[in-house]
Amino acid sequence: MRMYDIIMKKRNGLALTKEEINFMVEGYTKGEIPDYQMSALMMAIYFKGMTEEETFALTMAMAYSGDIIDLSKIEGLKADKHSTGGVGDKTSLVLGPMVAACKVPIAKMAGRGLGHTGGTIDKLESFLGLSTSFTNQEFIDYVNQIGIAIIGQTADLAPADRKLYALRDVTATVDQLSLIASSIMSKKLAAGADVIVLDVKTGSGAFMKREDDAVALAREMVKIGTSAGKETVAIISDMNQPLGYAVGNALEVKEAIDTLNGEGSKELLELCLTLGSYMVAYTKHASSVEEAREMLLKTIEDKSALKKLAELVKMQGGDERAVYDTTMLPKASIIMEIKAEADGFIEKIETEEIGIVSAILGGGRETKESKIDLSVGVVMHKKISDAVKEGESIATMYGNDLEKLQQAKEKFLSAITFSKTPVPKGRFIKWIITSSGTTKY
Ligand code: URA
Repeated sequence: MRMYDIIMKKRNGLALTKEEINFMVEGYTKGEIPDYQMSALMMAIYFKGMTEEETFALTMAMAYSGDIIDLSKIEGLKADKHSTGGVGDKTSLVLGPMVAACKVPIAKMAGRGLGHTGGTIDKLESFLGLSTSFTNQEFIDYVNQIGIAIIGQTADLAPADRKLYALRDVTATVDQLSLIASSIMSKKLAAGADVIVLDVKTGSGAFMKREDDAVALAREMVKIGTSAGKETVAIISDMNQPLGYAVGNALEVKEAIDTLNGEGSKELLELCLTLGSYMVAYTKHASSVEEAREMLLKTIEDKSALKKLAELVKMQGGDERAVYDTTMLPKASIIMEIKAEADGFIEKIETEEIGIVSAILGGGRETKESKIDLSVGVVMHKKISDAVKEGESIATMYGNDLEKLQQAKEKFLSAITFSKTPVPKGRFIKWIITSSGTTKY
């Protein structure tokens, strides 16, 4: 087999066989196929697309290019959740403990921030001393002891995807549906869970800005998961404004804890109840999603989910007292209110820009030059359709540098559109896609 022929075949719009896909994934991972040939193939795929069979073959080849996490030493069916990412997305910190409190084992691999805000691992590091890097054996032991553990993604997980994604990122071939679906699902399949719940966002703060694209991606991922023998469901929710109110690592941890105390944002709780009800029902801990939802609600009422988060923090070496006293989380030194300049209603929020506000303050992803500042960010007080009065605070910004705060304030205000007349609220949960059908809300 020759890479040249594979590129030519795809360039001419023909479907590749499983053997050809395995050949190119293996060859590329081992360094036998050069970047220039793989770039040409990615561009050919970008223009000619891939069939369902090709997409599945690519996913499996990438999933098996490294370690497949063996969760068989954890009793019962395991569930995992993946989010396509968004601004203010602290879902894992609420959902994980809620589902674990319903006795579903959660062995979660999470990432750091890809975009402007931190990822779950960054957020968890707001707990002093907490570690997310341990051996696979320790990971499994922790889940067996308390029902939940969250580990940073290891280099051995789907290495082919890691290499290919880096290449796509610099060759303008990221935004091809089959390539995105296979990239995400290869990592989920390698992570070893039996049930996969996909949290797909759509809107101005999401990777998939258009609802049609989000639905198509979700459908493709559900098909891949189902073909791999996993129960898979995708929930599509609105990301035309940040999820909840807080954007910034420690601020989001506080909001997650507030939600576990029954005092957080309604949307965040709704998302966790929806995603969680499939995780609980599909792992056979409830006989229906409705029953699962009731069980999850109870974990908030009886504080068992909050307790589970404290157990997780303690087990992973963190100071769990911060779960019960959030003033112990990292704190910024300067607080600045952003006030409305006139009466009106919030009409629109450029959500990605709010992520950039947090990055300007120092809360973006870590780089070689600068470490992430966990204490900074913004807490919104008003969301789309809310009425505002002149002089009223619409958000509080937290920072450690006055100049950056001024810059962030301007960015924040330019991201918000006000209306003089009332603005309707859109739906939050938009679609649920399972292997047996699609429901639009
Ligand atoms: N996220 C991924 O993991 N892969 C993609 O290709 C795009 C987003």
